Amino acid sequence: MLIREYQTDDEEGWLRCRVLSFLHTAYYDNVLQEKETYDHPSIELVAVEDGKIVGLIDIECEKASKTVCTECSSLGGMIWNLAVHPDFQRLGIGQQLLHEAEKRLKARNIDQLEAYTRDDEWVNHWYRKNGFHQVNHYLHVIMENNELNGVIKSSLKKVRPISCFAHYAGEEEEMIKDKFNRVHECRCYRKNI
Ligand SMILES: CC(C)(COP(=O)(O)OP(=O)(O)OC[C@H]1O[C@@H](n2cnc3c(N)ncnc32)[C@H](O)[C@@H]1OP(=O)(O)O)[C@@H](O)C(=O)NCCC(=O)NCCS
Repeated sequence: MLIREYQTDDEEGWLRCRVLSFLHTAYYDNVLQEKETYDHPSIELVAVEDGKIVGLIDIECEKASKTVCTECSSLGGMIWNLAVHPDFQRLGIGQQLLHEAEKRLKARNIDQLEAYTRDDEWVNHWYRKNGFHQVNHYLHVIMENNELNGVIKSSLKKVRPISCFAHYAGEEEEMIKDKFNRVHECRCYRKNI
């Protein structure tokens, strides 16, 4: 297994690896058809096995504090994408991608990492095992059909919302969890590297 920098002709393999890795997670419907690009400098690595992309990590890097990360107290890097193909999970690939990225971050004088993930316990376990600590969280609320009644209203005639994705950062989390069927905790993790 080789870890190297992402190249433009990796895009299809990158997309497939990402979508399959999300299949049985709380991000199952977060599907990209084009790879994300970043405004700031980035570290974009892939893990390759027999010519196939089996893992990926994308980190956007700060040149000035608080331009990308919200919870880092010094120059930080934000993990925007991290995925290992399901057939290759639990073999240390995610950890190796992180370690290689951290080496490159240190060379850029970046000493903190920030990441957000939903409430898949095994993914949270991976972050904690790799030295991350949770610093805060808020809720991702996905409202469908009747759940929108009395909550979301269109100001345009004949436009009837049937789905809504919302962030909730208030105190009444239990009320939100009771009211809506699909609610995820989105947890923010930070690590000193
Ligand atoms: C989280 C992820 C990147 C970890 O990469 P990995 O190469 O599988 O993990 P590693 O081999 O480095 O570490 C293994 C640890 O990860 C966790 N883990 C990884 N895959 C797992 C699985 N299929 N089931 C349960 N735990 C798993 C466990 O904590 C495991 O430690 P353990 O074996 O001591 O229990 C990868 O599993 C993944 O792609 N998950 C789905 C996508 C995702 O949620 N990405 C992050 C979104 S922000």
